[in-house]
Amino acid sequence: MCGIIGAVAQRNVAPILIEGLKRLEYRGYDSAGVALLQDQEIKRIRTTGRVAALEEAVREQNAHGLTGIAHTRWATHGAPTEGNAHPHVSGGIAVVHNGIIENHEALRAELKQAGFSFTSQTDTEVIAHLINHYFKSCRDLFQATREAVARLQGAYAIGVVCDSMPNKLIAARQGSPLLIGVGVEEHFIASDTSALLPVTQRFIYLEDGDVAELGLTSIVVVDKNGAAVSRAIQQSELRAEMVELGEYRHYMQKEIYEQPRALSDTLQELINGGVQPILFGMEAESILSTIERITFLACGTSYHSALTARYWIEALAGIPCNAEIASEYRYRTSVPDPKALIVTISQSGETADTLSALKHAQSLGHEYTLTICNVSESALVRESRLNMITRAGPEIGVASTKAFTTQLAALFTLALVLAKLRGRLNAVEEQKQIAALRALPGQMQRVLALESRVQRWAERFAEKQHALFLGRGMHYPIALEGALKLKEISYIHAEAYPAGELKHGPLALVDKDMPVIAIAPNDALLEKLKSNLQEVRARGGELYVVLDEDTHIQDMDEIHKITLPLHAGWLSPILHVVPLQMLSYHAALQKGTDVDKPRNLAKSVTVE
Ligand code: M6R
Repeated sequence: MCGIIGAVAQRNVAPILIEGLKRLEYRGYDSAGVALLQDQEIKRIRTTGRVAALEEAVREQNAHGLTGIAHTRWATHGAPTEGNAHPHVSGGIAVVHNGIIENHEALRAELKQAGFSFTSQTDTEVIAHLINHYFKSCRDLFQATREAVARLQGAYAIGVVCDSMPNKLIAARQGSPLLIGVGVEEHFIASDTSALLPVTQRFIYLEDGDVAELGLTSIVVVDKNGAAVSRAIQQSELRAEMVELGEYRHYMQKEIYEQPRALSDTLQELINGGVQPILFGMEAESILSTIERITFLACGTSYHSALTARYWIEALAGIPCNAEIASEYRYRTSVPDPKALIVTISQSGETADTLSALKHAQSLGHEYTLTICNVSESALVRESRLNMITRAGPEIGVASTKAFTTQLAALFTLALVLAKLRGRLNAVEEQKQIAALRALPGQMQRVLALESRVQRWAERFAEKQHALFLGRGMHYPIALEGALKLKEISYIHAEAYPAGELKHGPLALVDKDMPVIAIAPNDALLEKLKSNLQEVRARGGELYVVLDEDTHIQDMDEIHKITLPLHAGWLSPILHVVPLQMLSYHAALQKGTDVDKPRNLAKSVTVE
C-alpha cells in the first residue's frame, strides 16, 4: 500500500526522501512523487513506475529543499497515472495520503461549489483543497489541517507542507500507519520505521486521531479531542542493515534463509524459561485460564497460521477453536461468546481488515484479546490485551515466509501454555516439546539444503498454467499456503484441497498437464493419503511429493520426491512449508516475475 515519508531539516532532504521511498518500495506501489519547498515554491515531481525513475527526474531537475514530502502510490481511486500520483497540490499546499476517504464524493461536490477545480480522479485531492480552503481564513497550516481532517470519513495518514510556511511539516493519522522520526534539529514522518533507519532510530508512534506539527526543534501533537498530548519517544532496536539485501538476490530468498535464526529468536524465551503464560503478557495467566473457546481472525498467510493452530490447540489443550477470515468476520452476524479469546494474527499488525475485525469483536463485547504479531509498535499490538511478538525481523518481500513460520512457532507456544494451564501437559511432556522446538532451527537448515532439488521441480512448474496442492490434517493449511505462494509470485493458478476431497470434485481437473503436489509426512493420515495419490496416478497426473525420511511410499512411475528429515511430529508443518516456499520462489525466477513486488499486490494492506 501507499508509502509516506517527509522531512524538515537544515540540509537538503531530497536524498533522504528518495532513500526513504526506496525503503518503502516493498509495500507495493505503481507511481511515486515528491514535493520540496524550493525557493519559496512547491517543486513537485511525479512519475509512474519505479522510484528509480523519480530519483532520476529529481537529479535531472536538480530538485532540492530543506522541507519536503514524498509518496509511493498504490492506486485505489483513479488509474496509476502521473496525474493521479501524489503529492496533490492546492494553492501552495502539498499533501501525501495513505488510506481511503469514504466521503470524498460529497466533499468534492462541496469544494467544486466553492470554486476549487480538480485535476485528478483521486480521493486525496479533496484533502489538499480542504486544507487550502481552511488555510485561506486562518493562515495556519496546523489549524487548517485539523479543521480539514475533522471533515474526513475513512482512513488516512497524511503529510502536509506549505510554501508560505517553510520549516513546518504537518502529519495526521486515522486508521492508517504513520510515525514521527526524531532527529537532532530535524524531524521526519514515515509509514514505517524502515524508511527512516538511515537517519534516526528514535520514533514517536502517532495514535488514531492525532495531528502533529513538526518544526526543526519542536513537535506538537494534539489528540482527537484537540487536546495537546505528549507521546513517548521510543528507541528502535532495528538497524538500517537489517532491511538491506546483502548477499541475496531477493528479499524473499533472504527471508526464507533467515528462518532458522528467526525461529531461534522467537522461541528463545520459551526454551530458556519453560512453558509460562507470561510469554503472552502480564494478564495472560488469568485470561488464558478463563477462556473456553478461541476465535482466530487473520488474512492471507496469517489465516493459514490460524488454521494450523486450530489442529494443535484442539488436540493438545482441548479448547474448541474456529479460524475466520477477518474481512468476512467483520461483516457477518456472529454470536459473541464472552468466554472466547479473540486471537488476531498478523505480520504487519496494520492490516485494515484484521484491525477492523478486532474492533468489531470488541464492539460485540469480547474482552479477551491476544495478538501474534511481528511489529511490536503496531496498531494490533496496541489494541490487544495480550500479545506475543514474533522475532522474525522486518519482512520486506510481499510473499510472507519467515513471518509465517515464526507465527506457527508462537501459536505452538500458545497451544503448550493452554495445555499446561489445563493440566494436559506434564513435566516430561513439556521437556519433550521444548527439546523438539530446540531442534527445529537445525532441522530447518537441513530442509533449506534441499534447494537444488526444489529448483529442478520449479523448472518443470514454470511451464504450467495450473497446479494442485494436496495435504491432510494439519498439513492441509500448508497445502493452502503452498498454493497461495505459487500464485502470488509466479502467477501460476494454484488450488489446495484436503486430499480426501479429491474425488468430490477436483479429481476432474487432473490430467497430464496438471502437476499435483502432495505433502506426505509420516503421520497417522499417511495411508489415507497414499490412496489419494494412487487416484491421481490412475488419471495420468504428475505427482510431486514432499516426504519425511521415514515415510514409506511405494515407488510409482513418474513420481517426483523430496525427502525431509525424520517426521517432526506436531512441528512438521513448520518444516513442510519450506520446500513449497522455495518452489514458488524458483518458479517465479524461471518465469522472470518481480519476486519481491508481485503485480497488483502490496505488502501491508492498510485499506479495506
Ligand atoms: O500483515 P498481515 O500478516 O496481516 O498480512 C496478511 C496478508 O495480507 C498477507 O499474509 C498476504 O497474504 C501475504 N502477501 C501472503 O504471502
